[in-house]
Amino acid sequence: MDKIVIEGGKRLSGTIPVSGAKNAALTLLPCALLTEEPLTLRNLPRLADIDGFQHLMNQFGISTAIAGSRPEDFGRVMTLQATRITSTVAPYDLVRKMRASILVLGPMLARMGEATVSLPGGCAIGNRPIDLHLKVLEALGAQIEMAAGYVKAVAPDGGLPGGRFSFPVVSVGATENALMTAVLCNGTSHLHNAAREPEIVDLCNLLVAMGGQIEGIGTSDLTIHGVPRLHGATYMVMPDRIEAGSYACAAAITGGDVMLKGARIEDMEATVQALRDAGVLVEERPGGLYVAAEGKLRPVTLSTAPFPGFATDMQAQLMALLCKAEGSSVLTETIFENRYMHVPELNRMGARIETKGRTAIVHGVDKMHGAEVMATDLRASMSLVIAGLAAEGETRVHRLYHLDRGYERLEEKLALLGAQIERIGGD
Ligand code: EPZ
Repeated sequence: MDKIVIEGGKRLSGTIPVSGAKNAALTLLPCALLTEEPLTLRNLPRLADIDGFQHLMNQFGISTAIAGSRPEDFGRVMTLQATRITSTVAPYDLVRKMRASILVLGPMLARMGEATVSLPGGCAIGNRPIDLHLKVLEALGAQIEMAAGYVKAVAPDGGLPGGRFSFPVVSVGATENALMTAVLCNGTSHLHNAAREPEIVDLCNLLVAMGGQIEGIGTSDLTIHGVPRLHGATYMVMPDRIEAGSYACAAAITGGDVMLKGARIEDMEATVQALRDAGVLVEERPGGLYVAAEGKLRPVTLSTAPFPGFATDMQAQLMALLCKAEGSSVLTETIFENRYMHVPELNRMGARIETKGRTAIVHGVDKMHGAEVMATDLRASMSLVIAGLAAEGETRVHRLYHLDRGYERLEEKLALLGAQIERIGGD
């Protein structure tokens, strides 16, 4: 397995492009199921999860073509066409590798009247239930059956009527499945307490571009008027707000600066506020965001929350930055039950972090030292890279496949900023 070796202490400075958002791409791709016409997605990030999803779509008989990208390009253009669906089953061996596969359940049901998906199971950060996905599809008129580790959703004869559902907990994925189903229902559907993440807005914008009728986009109350069919579209994936925030932390912890080309401040206000509270300069400039360390880092106290709150996907990266603050920060993780896997590894690098249930107290330290560390999940891995950039000496991050799921050409982007970093194969 690959690993990344970082010689810390180099001040990062320069400009890097922000890639297309992984968590937008993973909900835009299954929209190809909703029409027989071609769907072209631009600015798709080169990530293992995107490759996995492409393979899953091929499994259903969907053609996928990658166009016009040179090896040195960031991002790709992919055209998908679901002229004929040859299978409505998402098998275990594909779903277990990528839990976002659950996002085919709704659109496959809407298109074919039935869909069978292997239960995705949990992951390092939590048990990741899908009860809300199933409840909202039932509210839209689907019948749900569970058997042998699979979930099967079936529409009544005559198609799904649509319906009303109020989410007891904000769920990004369940909102996405609901939207991709409701657009093709016979009637009108209402979703209350729906997720409002920018990736949800990106999905709504694509569905509207395909002929869908959605009101309340960007709010937690969505009304979807079902239409008999959708047409193809060409759509640009939004920039990755979590990648942008991650590189902002990386530059700041080294006392450096970075111009994040393509970053949209409106997608990441809570992250920008947290960085400013920590004493980091963040300025909106033509074409992106400029981030620069300005002297000592200050401690920050915050809780993660659904958008527009502070993103849980930024918690580990901000924690790494705050390891170097003057004073103690208090972070509370309210979304997932086990999202502190990075803490023991950061402490092995000299950090002083205590966790009590969902709360982590980060006592700032003057310096950290490089170490052999193990990646456990995507964002925890990035927090170890961020710490390694500022640590004295060499840091080796193992199990890079976690990072490759969410950060396009990470070591190339960091090298563009002056990091001493290399990927080496084998273990
Ligand atoms: C999406 O996961 C993202 N993944 C996650 O990013 C992100 O952390 C999460 O949203 C929250 O923002 C993708 O978009 C592919 P949820 P999702 O449903 O949809 C509970 C990353 O690092 N819940 O909003 O799975 C759940 O346990 C990944 O890029 C239920 O109880 O998240 C959690 O506590 C990690 N029942 C909370 O809701 C359900 O049916 C939020 O989960 C669904 C969720």
